[in-house]
This record gives sequence, structure tokens and C-alpha cells, in this order.
Amino acid sequence: MNSWLKTSRLCRYYRRGPQEIRAVDNVDLTVRRGEFLGVVGSSGSGKSTLLNLLAGLDTPTSGSIDFNNVTLGSLSRRELSSYRMRSVGMVFQSFNLLHYKTALENVELALYFSGTSKAVRRERAESSLETLGLSDRLDHRPSDLSGGEQQRVAIARALVKEPEILFADEPTGNLDHDNALQIAELLAKLNREGLTILLVTHNLDLAGSYCSRIITMNYGKIIDDSSGTRGV
Ligand SMILES: Nc1ncnc2c1ncn2[C@@H]1O[C@H](COP(=O)(O)OP(=O)(O)O)[C@@H](O)[C@H]1O
Ligand SMILES: [Mg+2]
Repeated sequence: MNSWLKTSRLCRYYRRGPQEIRAVDNVDLTVRRGEFLGVVGSSGSGKSTLLNLLAGLDTPTSGSIDFNNVTLGSLSRRELSSYRMRSVGMVFQSFNLLHYKTALENVELALYFSGTSKAVRRERAESSLETLGLSDRLDHRPSDLSGGEQQRVAIARALVKEPEILFADEPTGNLDHDNALQIAELLAKLNREGLTILLVTHNLDLAGSYCSRIITMNYGKIIDDSSGTRGV
């Protein structure tokens, strides 16, 4: 069974005064290697919380996440940090680029703690930006780039680490229609080349056109999973 990322009764609760918010509530999810999984659902339904848990950025209240048959909760801090650094790429709605750095420097920084030499970091960053069609933007700062270009730099920064899975949280949320389509096309291409992608999006058309499977969240639970009907 090709299921290398799997949650079991995954919960993440927040306490707000006397109130308990079940942001992720008893989620059993299996992500298959090579799929392009869309995560949809209304605002506040727990999509970002689920993504952050899977990416090792947040810790569950209860339940577990297994990656390659290893439970993330059993990893040491160093091992968990290595999971975040090496196995996972993240892209956000707000591109989170450093504004005083160039595109090339932003991408290079992702490799800063990887133990590679400066020359190799530069080479890989250039090649990653080139793949995303940004060869002529290496020395531009984010403020001199369009929104679509900034998001492509952010994707280059995620991909330069050669992650096994890419988590994208509303990556097209700040983009106009054409740029959103361009980013979606790009993700689809990366997926065809073998990258596993989890895409959180508000845009049902986008998810329907590009994702191989769609799960719908509501109040922290998965209320629909298209894998039965669409297949992968
Ligand atoms: N750090 C936090 N502290 C308290 N409540 C939070 C926190 N982060 C998220 N929540 C709550 O958890 C629920 C799910 O949030 P989120 O995962 O961001 O939803 P989505 O990404 O689907 O919009 C919401 O009710 C939100 O208010
Ligand atoms: Mg969110």
C-alpha cells in the first residue's frame, strides 16, 4: 500500500477562555505518494492547522502522524527539524520572502543550514529559479517582482531543498485569476514530474481542475473525500 504519510485520530485543540476549539478533530487521513491532494472547506474549518501538523510545524493534542512508518511524535527535536528542513516544502498565501534580499538570496537561504557549500547553494538556487522561469529575475528584490513572480520565488525556495512533499496553503489567495492559473499549472507540472502536493485552496474550480483527489473539511473533520470516485 502506497501510503507513506498517514494520520491516526489526529486532534489539535485550542483553548480560548472556557471554550475548546477543535481545529482538527479526529482526522484519519492517508496521503499517497505522488498524489495532488486538494484540501477545501470554509474559513476556520481547520485546513491550515492540519497542514501545519503534517509539516511538523505544530504538535497534535492527541493522535499521531506517521511518515515512512516513523511516528513524528517519537522523533527528537533534531530529527523533527530535519523532517521540516529536508522532507517538507512549504508555500504560503503571503509569500514570506525577505524584502531586503534578492530572489536568488531568498532561495539560497533555504539551504543555509543544509551543510552545502556557498557555491553549491548558489548553483542550486539558480537552477531552481531557472526551472520556474525566473532566470532573468535573480537580482530582483521582492518589491520589484509581480505577485505571481514572488510566489514563484517562494516555490523555488521550497523546491530547492528537493522535498518529498510540498504543502501549499492558499498559494493563489493573493493572486489575480491569470497568475493563480499559472501557479496552479506549475504545481500540476511539478506533480506530473513526481512531486506529492497538498494544496489548501478556497478555489473549488481550481481544485476540481487540477487535483487528483479532494478532501473537504468542516469543523476540524474531513466530511468528504473524493478518492473513492476520482481515484488517483
Ligand atoms: N493559534 C490559535 N489559537 C487559537 N485558535 C486557533 C489558532 N489557530 C487556529 N485557531 C482556530 O482553529 C480553527 C481552525 O483554524 P484554521 O486551521 O486556521 O482554519 P482554516 O485554515 O481552514 O481557515 C479556527 O476556529 C481558528 O480560529
Ligand atoms: Mg487557513
